[in-house]
Amino acid sequence: MPTVHLSDFALTYEQRGSGLPLLFIHGYPLHRFLWEPQWNSLSAVAQIIVPDLRGHGESEPGEAPHSMEVFAKDCFDLITALGITSPVVVCGLSMGGYIAMAMQRIEPQRIAGLILAATRSSADSPEGKASREKSIHLAQEKGSGPIIEGMLPRILAPRNIATRPDLVNHVKQIMASIPTTTIIKDLQGMIERPDSTKLLAISSKPTLIIHGADDQIVPLKEAHALSQIIPGAQFIALPEAGHLLNLEQPDQFNLAVSQFIKSIPYE
Ligand code: MLT
Repeated sequence: MPTVHLSDFALTYEQRGSGLPLLFIHGYPLHRFLWEPQWNSLSAVAQIIVPDLRGHGESEPGEAPHSMEVFAKDCFDLITALGITSPVVVCGLSMGGYIAMAMQRIEPQRIAGLILAATRSSADSPEGKASREKSIHLAQEKGSGPIIEGMLPRILAPRNIATRPDLVNHVKQIMASIPTTTIIKDLQGMIERPDSTKLLAISSKPTLIIHGADDQIVPLKEAHALSQIIPGAQFIALPEAGHLLNLEQPDQFNLAVSQFIKSIPYE
């Protein structure tokens, strides 16, 4: 697998296809294989770039904390290392969406468009922060097992959990491969993330908000509300999909993404 040496770690990534650069950023606690159904299909219409974020999958952990800004800078460093000078479309799922927003905050001129999947622009509420602190303590005491067991029943649509054991197993295997130290650093980074609502409200980037109708982690109505405040944003709710909508309904997800990116100019 291709690897590139960035500031303080070696990052592993996939790169497929050619043309408009389309960067996919995975969520928590996952790795680049979240996007396998996308790199297989969408490489026909764009240049797909899919990193394992630091500490996830086959990327080394490095020393830096997992703030959304550190992850965002890693993504820009990867793009630079690949010699890509044109603006990129960034598709982030959940925590990956928080990172996409951080990229828009840090270097908006390098962003051609945003695809915000199963994510939210708000910071954690006080209750949300307290719940993450509890998860950090649990992981410190008992490892990643209880965190994963707590997330699994909510990470897909209820119907898919009940009827698609292979998919549940696939997701469980990805989560089980993420080291406990990474899980703790991700949680610490997400607690500290700022609210990005105002940033998006003044954004002039083409934006697609895509969400599972049965998302049990980020309620659909939050995504819909976000789409109302971003100028010109498109909103798509996929039926029979939960938080990992791109795995649950890959054909519908890929169709929506390919239609969106065809509307973005690339010379
Ligand atoms: C994710 O899927 O990346 C996380 O559920 C995001 C979060 O916990 O806020």
